[in-house]
Amino acid sequence: MLLNNRHLLGIAELSPQEINTILDLADKYVDLNRETERKGQRLKGRTVVNLFFEVSTRTRGSFELAAKRLGADCINMNADGTSTRKGETLIDTAMTLNAMHIDVLVVRHSASGAVKLLADKVNCAVINAGDGQHEHPTQALLDALVMRRRTKKLEGLNVAICGDILHSRVARSNIFLLNKLGARVRVVAPLTLLPKDIDRMGCEVHTRMETGVKDADIIMMLRIQNERMEGSFVPSAREYYHFFGLDRAKLNLAKPDALIMHPGPMNRGVEIDSEVADDIHRSLILNQVEFGVAVRMACLDLLTRQLMSNQRLQDAAQ
Ligand code: NCD
Repeated sequence: MLLNNRHLLGIAELSPQEINTILDLADKYVDLNRETERKGQRLKGRTVVNLFFEVSTRTRGSFELAAKRLGADCINMNADGTSTRKGETLIDTAMTLNAMHIDVLVVRHSASGAVKLLADKVNCAVINAGDGQHEHPTQALLDALVMRRRTKKLEGLNVAICGDILHSRVARSNIFLLNKLGARVRVVAPLTLLPKDIDRMGCEVHTRMETGVKDADIIMMLRIQNERMEGSFVPSAREYYHFFGLDRAKLNLAKPDALIMHPGPMNRGVEIDSEVADDIHRSLILNQVEFGVAVRMACLDLLTRQLMSNQRLQDAAQ
């Protein structure tokens, strides 16, 4: 099965079947990436461009590796977020790259909706690598793959997403995906870091870690996104850590074998204590990084196949 859409802009647009298609293929790429010979030819002759208007280590690096492991040519372009504004400039940049006959454009931008705006103007496939506070679909897909491989099924799993829910595209994409696949989602945050419409997002809401992580199977911690805040949302990092930072005592309130996740970058001593972040029995944080490459390989693979089948349909119609 291929994906219904030419682009991957958000989890909200995907059906559970499409999500499972991506995860099943990514599962195979996880195994392939663990082999000594990891380079394939699926994307030979194809071009992937990473266009990042925001900083990134994991996402950009793994998209580049994913493209190269599939045999594609890949270039990285960093735009200076302060001098580039949403609107004409962004669209012009995308159309310029599109005119070079690229196949996939991977975009990260600080404005919610910016990636969609640009996707409407190009005929290559576009992948949203994070747009403002809106969505980060490949992060939610890799998180789901990590949970699925470790716990065998997502249905019925109790997942507590804790921290800066308000500014987090990772939280939004994860809430959409986990709800679609039947997990039970709770969000845990101080009131100042919860979105106004949280009640309509299909999750239990907690404002204390003690109740929020109780009996959880998975605890997903999030970074305080200072760069998206105007003014102060928490009194101090120290106080935040005291009430909302994940340490051994709070972890002990979850299920005895509860697992810890974090999309990175981590702020140790703010949202998470080093002792639990580095606990090799409980922390899945490095698995998340590992599986990020596999999930992005699956997305590039499926979207380029989709492009080819669209092309064939167009040729047949002419
Ligand atoms: C996240 C992001 O950029 O949205 N990081 C990532 O992609 N792994 C989360 C964050 O920046 O805190």
